[in-house]
Amino acid sequence: MRATAIAQPNIALIKYWGKRDLERNLPAVGSISITLRDLFTEMQVELDERLTADTLAVNGSVDETMLPRLSACLDLVVGRVRPRASVVSRCNFPVAAGLASSASAFAATTVAAAHAAGKSLGVAALANLAGRSSGSAARSLYGGFAELENRESEIAVSTLCESDQWPLSVVIAITETGPKAVGSTEAMEISRKTSPFYANWVERQDDDLQTARDAIRQRDFEQLAAIAEHNCLKMHSVMWASRPPIVYWNSVTMRCLQTVRKLQGGGAGVFFTIDAGPQVKAICLPEHVQEVRAALAATEGVIDIMESGLGDAARLVEVS
Ligand code: PMV
Repeated sequence: MRATAIAQPNIALIKYWGKRDLERNLPAVGSISITLRDLFTEMQVELDERLTADTLAVNGSVDETMLPRLSACLDLVVGRVRPRASVVSRCNFPVAAGLASSASAFAATTVAAAHAAGKSLGVAALANLAGRSSGSAARSLYGGFAELENRESEIAVSTLCESDQWPLSVVIAITETGPKAVGSTEAMEISRKTSPFYANWVERQDDDLQTARDAIRQRDFEQLAAIAEHNCLKMHSVMWASRPPIVYWNSVTMRCLQTVRKLQGGGAGVFFTIDAGPQVKAICLPEHVQEVRAALAATEGVIDIMESGLGDAARLVEVS
């Protein structure tokens, strides 16, 4: 059977950094994200008894690096004893560069694989399975503003606010292309084991989550901006203080932050966030998107700009 699903990446405003259980991939902290509309990953999964091995093609090229994680995801969704799969992926943004490509890829794979295997699973079960492959992927099963709760034994996500109830814009400044040096799982473990700030990071997360939840409920952009920037800089401080240090930023990343500060000084409704990569995501009020886009595009060293509104949950496109 063959099924195709599409999912959008999500960007965390209150970050997931650290695992409570490596085996089950359970996060040590809750997180809140926004699902994007204009960036996507489409996954077509075909289960075929005649195949002897799983295959993956991304945008027309064979991809061996992602294959082990993909096969593990298929084992989880379909079962360990299963036909091999031919997987064809299409993605309209750079992969493995801190743009949450694994979130949309595993969310779409989970939905497509479940349907290809003839399993009818609810969204909570799909989010649990996607979250086992990539923690942040669980959030792409939900649209708008989504919260991944900090639970002891399962992955639980809910929508705090739909995309059309607070339609913010996102401008992404690409400062570097190519895959990141350290994957997020390895980097999280280094932080957990060595960062002197890690325990405090985990301890204070519930306060940040509550502040962000309140800001979203009240559509209070200033409050959301302040807590999201604080939480992002705190996560990177945890990384920087790790041994060895984990630094995803480059000099252009820093310059983009200065651009955002200048825009804020001029009264624009905008704030930044940065994930496990050097790209800067500027979240803004729709009326300021052109100004934010132009200022980031004019920032020295910025390679490219992407823009997106907020979008909806991962979904099935076709099954045959
Ligand atoms: O889900 P992973 O393993 O790709 O980790 C995501 C980590 C961050 O992007 C830095 C934060 C987040 O909550 O998305």
